[in-house]
Amino acid sequence: MTTLCIAFVIYSATVYTTGTAATSASPMSAEARHGQELFQDKNCIACHQFYGLGGYMGPDLTNVISKRGEAYSGAFIAAGTVSMPNFNLDTDEVSALVAYLAFVDQTGTYPPEEYKIEWNGNVSQVDDPR
Ligand code: HEC
Repeated sequence: MTTLCIAFVIYSATVYTTGTAATSASPMSAEARHGQELFQDKNCIACHQFYGLGGYMGPDLTNVISKRGEAYSGAFIAAGTVSMPNFNLDTDEVSALVAYLAFVDQTGTYPPEEYKIEWNGNVSQVDDPR
């Protein structure tokens, strides 16, 4: 029993003290903050997802900027499509939304490409771009 308790304490100390370092993700700019407000106001998450969470009518937007580029994403947001509404946003609002999507993009990759399982059972992402 004592051995188990000691093992538990050591294991807990290892698991709960690794992986909590501050990330190098850059802080959100004022423009991206404005984009986040618009994203919430227009309820983009009703149809889109970040990290797989959200509505499922449109595609996941976590890495849309690195996959498709700012111009492509901005064009979708500005004009809409048959299945995505046109929100009649002005160019500043479109750039703010693109800045917000670019901010989200650099926080991680979804879906994660490769996992590494460490000796203590922690799972980390091998290709984490952070
Ligand atoms: C009513 C549901 C709906 C809402 C609300 C919505 N979208 Fe979309 N969006 C879609 C659909 C569906 C597509 C795919 C359209 C297509 O391929 O024709 C899409 C595509 C996109 C794309 C291109 C993604 C890609 O990988 O091709 C971007 C960027 C985007 N939306 C951003 C936004 C933003 C920002 C908002 C909020 C201002 C928003 N959407 C609100 C349904 C929606």
